[in-house]
Amino acid sequence: MNTGPIGIFDSGIGGTSIWKEIALALPQEDTLYLADSKNAPYGEKSKEDILQLSIKNTEWLLQRDCKLIVVACNTATTNAIDHLRKTFGVPFIGIEPAIKPAALGSRTKKVGVLATKGTLASSLFHSTAQLYASGIEVMVQEGKGLVELLETGQLHSQEMEVLLKTYIDPMVASGMDYLVLGCTHYPYLVPKLQQLLPTTVTIMDSGSAVAKQTKKVLTAHRLLNPSAEAPQHEFYTNTQVAILSSFLADVNPPVVVRYLDF
Ligand code: DGL
Repeated sequence: MNTGPIGIFDSGIGGTSIWKEIALALPQEDTLYLADSKNAPYGEKSKEDILQLSIKNTEWLLQRDCKLIVVACNTATTNAIDHLRKTFGVPFIGIEPAIKPAALGSRTKKVGVLATKGTLASSLFHSTAQLYASGIEVMVQEGKGLVELLETGQLHSQEMEVLLKTYIDPMVASGMDYLVLGCTHYPYLVPKLQQLLPTTVTIMDSGSAVAKQTKKVLTAHRLLNPSAEAPQHEFYTNTQVAILSSFLADVNPPVVVRYLDF
């Protein structure tokens, strides 16, 4: 039993899509969320830079007594989680593109993956794709520019729609029937993607699987919070409070976002 918070980090607003699943699955747990938006997009950085930023984020969360860290970022997971697990003495939960369930469900045997350059270039992504997608054509598409638009509050812009169409149309034309969202920012694009995709395409993300795994690991390590009090949730960003807040506007009871010079 441990009353410390669950630490969650991302390169920005994307990990809030994971935080929402965790808060739903583990309603008694305190959380501490760190959005390193100043350094977004991680997906365009080198493996070494992604690793150093992930270490810095982890150290900040551990200084605040987090009992477990959720790396709520596919790019940081695929490039840094092995190192984090070897270096720090708490359990880590990562997130990777949900290729396995998509490959199992696909009838056309053609699965599209939309993810960052950093995720698609990682050896972890390649080994997962090879392991689970035998007999399946995996079409990968870099989501260049999407994170920047989300981080600057341009979800509903014309530019977003143009980019999304450019990225998904060729995969649709090739017969994709599953689109795997390989970046935690992208669940916020689902309403737009649903308008652009034919109904024959199923969208997959890994958010609920991450929450389930977090619960499983907390239980196995006897780290669940025994307190019956209402949970405390703290959110920090090193850029604009208003942008991170806008992605949490649907949370009830409301949460507060603070600026952090980080
Ligand atoms: N949200 C992140 C991910 O899941 C990273 C986006 C980025 O900063 O490039 O990959």
